[in-house]
Amino acid sequence: MSDLLEVLKWRYATKKMEPTKAVPQEKVDRILEAVRLTASSSGLQPYEVFVVTNPELREQIKPHAWNQGQVTDCSHLLVFAAWDNYTAERINQMFDLVNEERGIKNEGWEAYRQQLLNTYPQRDAETNYAHAARQAYIGVGTALIAAAQEQVDSVPMEGFDPAKVDEILKLRERGLRSVVMLPLGYRAGDGDWLVNLKKVRRPREQFITELK
Ligand SMILES: Cc1cc2nc3c(=O)[nH]c(=O)nc-3n(C[C@H](O)[C@H](O)[C@H](O)COP(=O)(O)O)c2cc1C
Repeated sequence: MSDLLEVLKWRYATKKMEPTKAVPQEKVDRILEAVRLTASSSGLQPYEVFVVTNPELREQIKPHAWNQGQVTDCSHLLVFAAWDNYTAERINQMFDLVNEERGIKNEGWEAYRQQLLNTYPQRDAETNYAHAARQAYIGVGTALIAAAQEQVDSVPMEGFDPAKVDEILKLRERGLRSVVMLPLGYRAGDGDWLVNLKKVRRPREQFITELK
């Protein structure tokens, strides 16, 4: 466990990436697999991850992401895109997949399916999108840790115009909306103003409350 903490201390929100250094595909694949394996509410995985290596697409995104250099200097730009809504079709697809993969049909599970079908599709799309987006953030958190474990640098990014990114990646046509991005690459050493600065966190007692 202490190894994980060391890895988390090493990780930081990389401000400048080395554009000549690419993350090996097997590392990217392990990071993506970690995201696929992470938790999501009801196991619906209500988001997709786009791996943007295409330089033109990243050039198009950059001006709509506060001109942050990591968008083009990273080797792989992950874009987490949440479902724009929960539909009966999307819910059924996941529940059917579970039944298919497990080869069993469970009464409790089917009752749970009905409960979701009776609740989610009736809610407004914005509420459902917000719920799906929260699941995408769990994916980003998992990717952050997995990347650090691979000694790959990253920076979670909300600093962009989602409507523009949706347009560039044609996400709305797929029923998706961009939530957060995660450039993967390698720190540009001393070229990064943040690399040598202390990681600052509130003290434990201001963050954790133990109720015994
Ligand atoms: C959801 C989210 C969005 C963020 N957006 C940006 C961003 O657009 N640009 C950036 O440079 N850093 C961004 N950050 C990085 C945070 O500023 C950074 O994680 C925080 O200051 C803590 O520093 P550390 O990650 O280096 O420990 C974001 C972090 C999170 C979790």
